[in-house]
Amino acid sequence: MALKKVTIVGAGHVGATCAYNIANRRLADVVLVDILEGVPQGKALDMTEATPLTGGDCKITGTNNYIDTQDSDIVVITAGLARKPGMSRDDLLFKNVAIVGSVVEEIVKYSPDAILILVTNPLDAMVWVAEQKSGFPRERIMGMAGVLDSARFQSFIAMELGVSQENTHAFVLGGHGDTMVPLSRYSTVAGVPITELMTSEQVARIEDRTRNGGAEIVKLLGTGSAYYAPGEAVAEMTEAILLDKKKILPVAAKLQGEYGVDGLFVGVPAVLGAAGMERVFEIELTEQEQVEFDNSVAHVRELVKKLES
Ligand code: APR
Repeated sequence: MALKKVTIVGAGHVGATCAYNIANRRLADVVLVDILEGVPQGKALDMTEATPLTGGDCKITGTNNYIDTQDSDIVVITAGLARKPGMSRDDLLFKNVAIVGSVVEEIVKYSPDAILILVTNPLDAMVWVAEQKSGFPRERIMGMAGVLDSARFQSFIAMELGVSQENTHAFVLGGHGDTMVPLSRYSTVAGVPITELMTSEQVARIEDRTRNGGAEIVKLLGTGSAYYAPGEAVAEMTEAILLDKKKILPVAAKLQGEYGVDGLFVGVPAVLGAAGMERVFEIELTEQEQVEFDNSVAHVRELVKKLES
């Protein structure tokens, strides 16, 4: 049986890491696209040369030509500029809108049935741009943010309590930015909510660190932003879709009345399977959580308004 095909647009730090992780999980043949000549080809060849050591027979191809992306099952868009120290994700807005818009036009031409996963920041705005340009139904457009933010939250929980990362589970809602809402009540260690295992000061501290998780890495690196955890988060979403796992993962999904929001892409838990974002998974929020969620939604709405004007 032919393998599925995943295209990654943008062969930079995040794109290349996504490609490598997807191939290493043996999920699909991978096509890496970039405007830079030689870079996607060189990285794809390097990854191919690792395959005899890592195993698997996924083909990894680098290209500057969208014709090679034809009939992709999933397209991951990482093309764009990354943050520099002191820049917020929103500072990237207008530069990356133009890039993502042109990429989506090309993708739609060659893969009209693909599922799109947006990664470029500011994420909540980029999924909106992708929807406008593609006209795809909501099942086939989503943004990667929540899986990454939750993984960061999980890491901080494990560090704080000195337990295995594998025992942790975490939940994050809302936009991918400073207004994201880590849901500690639903974040657990071996099934026990962290609110029962830590003081409220500890919880508040790691929630805050989660909100600023991206900025912490940007500051340390000095140039560029995170890519190992983002690359793994994309592979996790890709796996849930290609293996039709019906896995509940937090993604930026278009809400149509769920959580009291209509017509905006916001981070919520959703069921990922062969059809893409198959269903928004609704949970009850406390009054305080709903206030924080609404605040996050308001921020996403402001971003989109900037694009509409
Ligand atoms: N088409 C294809 N590729 C493009 C285009 C385009 N129109 N414009 C830029 N690129 C490519 C660049 O040539 C570069 O190789 O996108 C790549 C971006 O890579 P990096 O600069 O290494 O950035 P990266 O760290 O991968 O981040 C990419 O993901 O997490 C987000 O905030 C991050 O928006 C940023 C994106």
